[in-house]
Amino acid sequence: MDTTAPTVGIDLAIEPAIDTLPASFRWGVATSAYQIEGAVDEDGRGPSIWDTYCRVPGMVHNGDNGDVACDHYHRMPEDVALISSLGVDTYRFSVAWPRVQPDGRGPVNPKGLAFYDRLVDELLGKGVDPWVTLYHWDLPQELEDAGGWPVRDTAYRFADYSMMVFDALSDRVRTWTTLNEPWCSAMLGYYEGRQAPGRQDFTAAIHAVHHLLLGHGLALGRMREAATPPTEFGITLNMGHASPATDSEADREAARRADGLSRRIYLDPLLRGHYPEDVVADLAKRLVEIPVRDGDLEIISQPIDVLGVNYYSSSKHSGVAEDGAVADEDGHPVDRVVRFGKPVTAMDWEIVPEGFTDLLVQLSREYPGVPMVITENGAAFEDRPDESGFVRDDDRTAYLDSHIAAVAKARQAGADVRGYFAWSLMDNFEWSYGYDKRFGIVHVDYETQVRTPKRSALWYRDVIRRVRGS
Ligand code: NOJ
Repeated sequence: MDTTAPTVGIDLAIEPAIDTLPASFRWGVATSAYQIEGAVDEDGRGPSIWDTYCRVPGMVHNGDNGDVACDHYHRMPEDVALISSLGVDTYRFSVAWPRVQPDGRGPVNPKGLAFYDRLVDELLGKGVDPWVTLYHWDLPQELEDAGGWPVRDTAYRFADYSMMVFDALSDRVRTWTTLNEPWCSAMLGYYEGRQAPGRQDFTAAIHAVHHLLLGHGLALGRMREAATPPTEFGITLNMGHASPATDSEADREAARRADGLSRRIYLDPLLRGHYPEDVVADLAKRLVEIPVRDGDLEIISQPIDVLGVNYYSSSKHSGVAEDGAVADEDGHPVDRVVRFGKPVTAMDWEIVPEGFTDLLVQLSREYPGVPMVITENGAAFEDRPDESGFVRDDDRTAYLDSHIAAVAKARQAGADVRGYFAWSLMDNFEWSYGYDKRFGIVHVDYETQVRTPKRSALWYRDVIRRVRGS
């Protein structure tokens, strides 16, 4: 994309709040390894839980998998040029553990690591800051075979792997995220079974929560010890604003439980050094205990420099089922998600930008002193390319507009948010939805691998220019 070209057909009508963002605000685009790289059998990469899960019939829409994805592994320089043409200053990507350490333990695979070495150099050569996520869901299959995240040893394996990457790239990479969305790894992967490895065991999922957090802390401690300033470390959590559907006691309790198990069970140990008492009590009622050992919470609660926030939607909760029941067939209290009645994206997620502002303000009040960066925000819509491949995605553009404005409003209300990264740079493998759902601001034609910036990409580029005053 020619960034010097005049803005043709892009109406830069933006919500006024966006103009209050500072020129120093960090702008980026984000991706993850399994969703874009392909080349799953190349240069010594080992299998991950996603390679395995995709092959289980019925788990992924259309039987899709990440074997080729966006073929980014072979098209990396072209993709970095694309990123640079968008005018962003940061590219958030993840490193595939099974490329770097194919079995999840043992020696480094130099060829796998070399890919990220080249990627970092390519980015820096184009003036784009690399932001590394160490774990975006692609656990080496061998570690899952040994028990996966429900098993404590996986946390130690993660710390070892993290150090391999850190040793290789920390001379050039400033910002490091340990985990992406541990809620998804634990709850979707081990309880709901809607993501790899597809297990359905609540106790295993709660054990996974703790070992993911422990892995974060162990890796953070070792990297921090080896780091020189201005290296920054953080973790990325997916969060929404959970509110009660009505002011009734039952609904307020349902919202508290949902918020506890999706948000505070991560934030409290990370930022306050203990699990929330109400969540521990709720779990005890289900006869589940968090497997904490002496010293774990000190490891988990080491200071972070930035909290990554991934936001897509918010939710309202009721403790009463439609038929009036307050407990389900297992005797567990009801948590019924109640619709706001707002328009939805192609994921059927309601569009709730004000929930984004509420969440960020809530975070800044409950956990003060931790700078935040929006490490993901974006939307899937039914894109319709014209004959030239161009997608005039006014719906996605409006989504980005209202959500960037929501961030600006949260800043005005005192939330310390320092940057915003759009999810995603380009259409990619949307996990169990396969290639059916498109989140990219750049369109990918999977037949030809041609990338075409959508209207939202051009709009985003212009917003960045305008806020920067350049
Ligand atoms: C969050 C995840 O980090 C990312 O991998 C996913 O594609 C987006 N949400 C959209 O669902």
